[in-house]
Amino acid sequence: MKKHSIFFILIVFSLFIGGCKYDFILPEEVPPIDNSKPISFATQIAPIFVEKCNSCHNNQSPKLTADVAFAQIVPSFVNTGTPANSKIYTVPVSGTHYAKYSATEAALILAWIKEGAKNN
Ligand code: HEC
Repeated sequence: MKKHSIFFILIVFSLFIGGCKYDFILPEEVPPIDNSKPISFATQIAPIFVEKCNSCHNNQSPKLTADVAFAQIVPSFVNTGTPANSKIYTVPVSGTHYAKYSATEAALILAWIKEGAKNN
């Protein structure tokens, strides 16, 4: 009888342990940014706006079409002193705006601002 109850306790215990299932939410991996050359506004940043933002920001301020995006956001929406406070970065990263940058896009925008938000 005693043997049985120990066995029973072991089974209940193993069910209890096995029942704890953890779902890990892995953060999106950000591929390292190539630091060997400056980030280009024309070829790396403006295309993000064209793809994700222009359904609204083709007439909504700030206008983000490739031809005028730079003049619209620099300096008004960019803070080169504290890049992470730049509105062009914080608004879509907040998650409450209509569109959100992917982790890679967010990293590119931030890196571009850190490099001085150049029209290159
Ligand atoms: C579905 C429409 C829509 C999309 C898509 C959209 N926006 Fe907006 N955005 C708006 C509207 C409307 C406003 C006006 C203020 C508000 O509602 O936040 C705005 C305002 C802004 C502002 C100014 C906020 C301020 O405080 O002055 C920024 C910066 C901005 N959007 C960036 C972006 C970027 C970058 C993208 C693309 C990743 C984007 N938005 C995509 C509709 C949109």
